This record gives sequence, structure tokens and C-alpha cells, in this order.
Amino acid sequence: MFTPQPIGFVSSPYKNTKEIPKGFGAKHEAEGLLKILPELEAGLADIEGFSHLFVIWEFDRSEGFELLGTPPIDDRPHGVFATRSPRRPNPIGLTVVQLLRREGPLLHVRGLDMLDGTPILDIKPYLSSIPTESLRRGWLAEAEARKKP
Ligand SMILES: C[S@@+](CC[C@H](N)C(=O)[O-])C[C@H]1O[C@@H](n2cnc3c(N)ncnc32)[C@H](O)[C@@H]1O
Repeated sequence: MFTPQPIGFVSSPYKNTKEIPKGFGAKHEAEGLLKILPELEAGLADIEGFSHLFVIWEFDRSEGFELLGTPPIDDRPHGVFATRSPRRPNPIGLTVVQLLRREGPLLHVRGLDMLDGTPILDIKPYLSSIPTESLRRGWLAEAEARKKP
């Protein structure tokens, strides 16, 4: 296995996990920066053409993991690999952000759900070819249905 090295760090308005919207209907609209290391800037060539990006990052402030956990959106436990829990065997996060603009090695983005200073492991253009009607939302759809009045 390779030893991951950050390609940059997130500049986010969130200094504390309590500030990050969670649970049913939570919207992630926070704006901030993906600050890519200057020596890797050449790797951003042509990124401006993409509206959205996958950001792969490290949950650097979570400790340990639990294989079954109850997410904020539900009152029932689910397997860690069926959730987006920060407490996972490999603490890797994945967030889709909107690319607002690029300024050299700085990417201005919207849709952050990570803490300020979070290490970025990789960035890839967001592309999805899966038609909406083919997507199943598993326990999330059931939890949402239970919460509806
Ligand atoms: C539910 S996770 C989802 C993250 C990502 N969208 C994903 O699906 O992998 C988001 C939560 O992770 C926690 N978090 C954010 N940044 C973190 C960091 N750098 N270290 C540890 N926990 C973090 C916060 O509690 C935040 O609400």
C-alpha cells in the first residue's frame, strides 16, 4: 500500500464539527478553498471546465471506528460501509463540491462539509452516467419515509 500524502488542505468556515449541518434535510452550501500545494499546481490544468469535483480527503480528527453506528439522520444502527460516518477503518471522506473559480493553486468551491485544515488526498472531476431512476437510496429512503408526518 502507498502512504498517502496530502495534495493540499481545505480552508473551510467550519472550525468545529458542531457547526457542520447534519441530519435530515441538511444542506451543504458553505464556501471555501481547496488550497493545492504550489508544487502540484500543474496538475490543475484544465480543471476549470468542470462544474463539480469529487474531493477525497482524510477525517484527520476522528478517532477509531465502529462497524455499526447510528447516523444523525436515523434512530437505527447501520453498517459503517452503508453510511458516511467519519469513524471508519480507513478514515477517508468523499465530498462533491461545486467549482466556483480557480486562482492559481487555489480552488474556490461551494458545498464543503469538512473542517478547516482538513488534508486533501485527491481531486477528480465529478461525472455520473447513472440515470436517477436507476439509483436506490437504501435505508436512507426508509428513514426519510418514517420521518414524514
Ligand atoms: C458525515 S461526514 C460526511 C463526509 C463526506 N461527505 C463523506 O461522505 O465522506 C461529515 C462529518 O464529518 C465530520 N468531519 C468533517 N471534517 C472532519 C475532519 N477533518 N476530521 C474528522 N471529522 C470531520 C463532521 O462531523 C461532519 O459533519
